[in-house]
Parts: sequence; structure tokens; C-alpha cells
Amino acid sequence: MIYRSIVARAGFALLLAVLMHPLSAEERYQPCIACHGDAGQGVVTLGAPALAGQDEAYLARQLKNFRDGVRGAVAGDAQGMQMSAMAESLSDGDISALSAYLSALSRAPATVVEGDLKNGMTIYQGNCGACHGSAGEGNPSLNAPALAWLDGEYIQRQINNFQRGLRGNHREDRYGRQMNLMAKGINSQDVDDITAYMQSRTGD
Ligand code: HEC
Ligand code: HEC
Repeated sequence: MIYRSIVARAGFALLLAVLMHPLSAEERYQPCIACHGDAGQGVVTLGAPALAGQDEAYLARQLKNFRDGVRGAVAGDAQGMQMSAMAESLSDGDISALSAYLSALSRAPATVVEGDLKNGMTIYQGNCGACHGSAGEGNPSLNAPALAWLDGEYIQRQINNFQRGLRGNHREDRYGRQMNLMAKGINSQDVDDITAYMQSRTGD
């Protein structure tokens, strides 16, 4: 009896300690590592993009969009739905802690994409650079995320998702809708060329 009550009390004390100790951002990131990597570098084979060094407000907006059914909620968006399931239980506090933590990690170069740099430059500077920055570094004041560190297949899928209305179609997705319009008329070869061009400039 005494033994059981000691165990029960110890268990209760442990529970209290866990409840009272707010999780650090690093601890909150633990469930994400399997897909996004221990340094937020992304895992290409899982379709999980790099998050390290991405704009903080952009990350927070995406996590809320996934949680609230604004992104990753349309049938056909398998990867987005997978991510939505992960965001379901995040509180606003979790989201701000995670976004601050991830945006402070160093960006790592993505797997190299081959492409026509000249065509990439022409299309990128003519259609994308005004929002995403002259080298794909992103522009927080226009809510446009950094692109140059993202994996080529992930970029292809997002452009495709925008074009097919799987992303950026929800009435509350103000910034996704903006990008939706920009993705029209860009083919997959153009996307490879744009990605190769941005990658060629990450060292600038
Ligand atoms: C089961 C694998 C998996 C887990 C675990 C996971 N994610 Fe994801 N995440 C993905 C996939 C796949 C995508 C890409 C979705 C798409 O293609 O639209 C993604 C996309 C994202 C994006 C959008 C990035 C961008 O550039 O728009 C953010 C932010 C994100 N995840 C954060 C997190 C955080 C934080 C956690 C932990 C709480 C987490 N993820 C856990 C698979 C996962
Ligand atoms: C008018 C400004 C604007 C222009 C021009 C623009 N974008 Fe975007 N783009 C955005 C915004 C804003 C977002 C973020 C959408 C969101 O918050 O969901 C975005 C998001 C993206 C994403 C998703 C990134 C991620 O991490 O999931 C990709 C890929 C992208 N843009 C590529 C392009 C390409 C390629 C071009 C040129 C063909 C382009 N954009 C032109 C504003 C723009």
C-alpha cells in the first residue's frame, strides 16, 4: 500500500513538473525531426521541405494554414494533408516558438538542379524576383518566402499545387491566392531553369 502510494505520488510530481515546465522550442521540434531533419534541412525522399532560415512570419502562417484547414485540406494534396495532420494539435504558442527557432537555423544548399540558367534568369527576373528577391532570398515585407534553398521537387510540387488549385484557393489564404496567379503559365522546364538559376546565386 505504502509503496503504491509513493509510486503514485512520484508519478504525480513528475506529471506536475512536466506540466509546469514549458517546453523549449527545441523540444517542441522533436516530433518534426523524422520528416524535416534534425537541423531543419528537409528530407527530399519524404517530400518534407527545408525549414531552416525560412522567414519567421511565413513559417507561422503556413503552420496556422495547415492547422486551420487553409492549406493541405483539399483531396489530391497528399503531402499537404500529411503535414496538416502534424499541425492539428499545435497551439499558437507552439507555432510562434517553432517559427522563431526554425528561422534562426542556418540555411543549407539543396540538391543541385540542372537547368538552362539563361532561361531561368529571364523568367525569374521577369516574373518572380520582384516578390521573392533578386536571388530567391525572399522578401518578408512582401510576405514572399525564400526559395533558393528549397528542393527542386518540392518547388515543382508547389507550383503544380497552385496551378491545380490544391493550394492558394481558400478564401482566407490571402497570400496563397497572390501566388496562385503568378504560377499560371509556368511549365515544369521553366521551374527547373528558375531553380537552377536561384541555386547558382545562393553564394552571391
Ligand atoms: C510525417 C512527416 C512530417 C512531419 C512529422 C512534419 N512535417 Fe512538416 N511537412 C511535411 C511535408 C510532406 C510537407 C510538404 C507539404 C506540401 O507539399 O505542401 C511539410 C511542410 C511543412 C511546412 C511548410 C513549409 C513551406 O515552405 O511552405 C512547415 C512550416 C512545416 N512542414 C513544419 C513542420 C513542423 C514545425 C513540424 C513538427 C511540429 C512538422 N512540420 C512535422 C511532412 C511532415
Ligand atoms: C506578387 C508577388 C509574387 C510573385 C511575382 C511571385 N510570388 Fe511566389 N509567392 C508569393 C507569396 C506571397 C508566397 C507565399 C504564399 C503563402 O503564404 O502561402 C509565395 C510562395 C511561393 C512558393 C511556395 C514556397 C514554399 O515554401 O512552399 C513558391 C515555390 C513560389 N512562390 C515560386 C514563385 C515563382 C517560381 C514565381 C515566378 C514564376 C513567383 N513565385 C512569383 C508571392 C509572389
